[in-house]
Amino acid sequence: MLHNDMLAQWDRDNFFHPSTHLAEFARGNVPQRVVTGGQGCYIEDRDGNRLLDAFAGLYCVNVGYGRPEIAQAIADQASELAYYHSYVGHGTEASITLAKMVMDRAPDHMSKVYFGLSGSDANETNIKLVWYYNNILGRPQKKKIISRWRGYHGSGLMTGSLTGLELFHKKFDLPLAQVLHTQAPDYFRRSDLGQSEAAFVAHCVADLEELIDREGADTIAAFIGEPVLGTGGIVPPPTGYWPAIQAVLDRHDILLIADEVVTGFGRLGTMFGADHYGMHPDLITIAKGLTSAYAPLSGSIVSDKMWAVLEQGTDENGPIGHGWTYSAHPIGAAAGVANLALIDTLGLVENAGSVGAYLNAKMHAALGDHPHVGDVRGEGMLCAVEFVADKDSRQFYDPSAKIGPQIAANLLEQSNVIGRAMPQGDILGFAPPFCLTRSEADHIVAAAHRAVTSVLG
Ligand SMILES: Cc1ncc(COP(=O)(O)O)c(C=O)c1O
Repeated sequence: MLHNDMLAQWDRDNFFHPSTHLAEFARGNVPQRVVTGGQGCYIEDRDGNRLLDAFAGLYCVNVGYGRPEIAQAIADQASELAYYHSYVGHGTEASITLAKMVMDRAPDHMSKVYFGLSGSDANETNIKLVWYYNNILGRPQKKKIISRWRGYHGSGLMTGSLTGLELFHKKFDLPLAQVLHTQAPDYFRRSDLGQSEAAFVAHCVADLEELIDREGADTIAAFIGEPVLGTGGIVPPPTGYWPAIQAVLDRHDILLIADEVVTGFGRLGTMFGADHYGMHPDLITIAKGLTSAYAPLSGSIVSDKMWAVLEQGTDENGPIGHGWTYSAHPIGAAAGVANLALIDTLGLVENAGSVGAYLNAKMHAALGDHPHVGDVRGEGMLCAVEFVADKDSRQFYDPSAKIGPQIAANLLEQSNVIGRAMPQGDILGFAPPFCLTRSEADHIVAAAHRAVTSVLG
């Protein structure tokens, strides 16, 4: 107990936590949790609580906690060779094998994978590659990047700019000037409630076309988007959205970056979201599910079309001036190899699809008719419930009422289930590990129902 108390104090005195109210934390008003273990879909904390983690950490522990196959692969790699760099043609068995495994799973028109450490740095790499590409092609003015409001792409200088959430810009002097934002494909939040889904898609396309016309297609290099909006509210796109956007991009020679940090390696029940929605990306961002977060590793998958230009660039300018000390770190790569093999062996992509559909159907049945539930939506192993003050007029709650956070807190306190109060709206999000069973899905739904009726009646 004494040790626990010291940890709590050390935590407040020394640890700068990300995405945290710093002053409230220092004052002791933010609950602290010291997580000590995990097995399957459950984590345990130092106070003896066992919690069903229905958000898989930060939608990343896709194979579930406590997998000995991955732990052993990491241990073996660490004792054999903890580190060597991957500059100027160096590699390890693990990093080369993982590159092969990633490319075997990627869409056919993709060529190579560059490894980084986080989703943020992979997107930084992607933007640099896009700029390099256009410089090599002799069009130095074609540099702006279009992202969507409610998109999430990281929290670096460029990636925080791409992220379309106000909290990530405010007081940080972001977004940077090269970044433009367009309409979020969030049909539930359409401004005209009478608009059909098809008309809403046409509106998103018109908004994009207008932005391109205003700026000039010759100044716009790329469009970045998550196949399903994640942190912006877990919002699957309306039917026909991606093919319609892809057609606009193709017409204006604008590259597409599919940010698959959440959706890559199975979360939608398909290997990639690009396969699921018929996107034709020039770059694919991968991270979380690549190692199921057993070690930090990310990647930028580059298409054949871009790769040819990158090769031309190095013929003209020498080696590519880009790399991190820890690119393709052997321990991350060993975790990735074991993780992707385990996903195959256990059939976890299929399970994410089938149990995810079950979770979504059950959530809809339990909460769809509640007078303060405006929307229940999801795809694969992603599910969200959005709350409204008035259903018919789709009137949202005043954000200061913190309805979403209250429901997430109730879910945890009453049922020991972790869901996430999504940051932009009163939205309760779920993104469980792919190994979720139907009975665990039932448990999440029952707990969500209890939390919603406790807070909203
Ligand atoms: C779609 C998407 N892209 C990028 C990132 C950034 O990844 P990281 O937090 O590893 O930098 C995230 C993180 O949640 C994400 O959801």
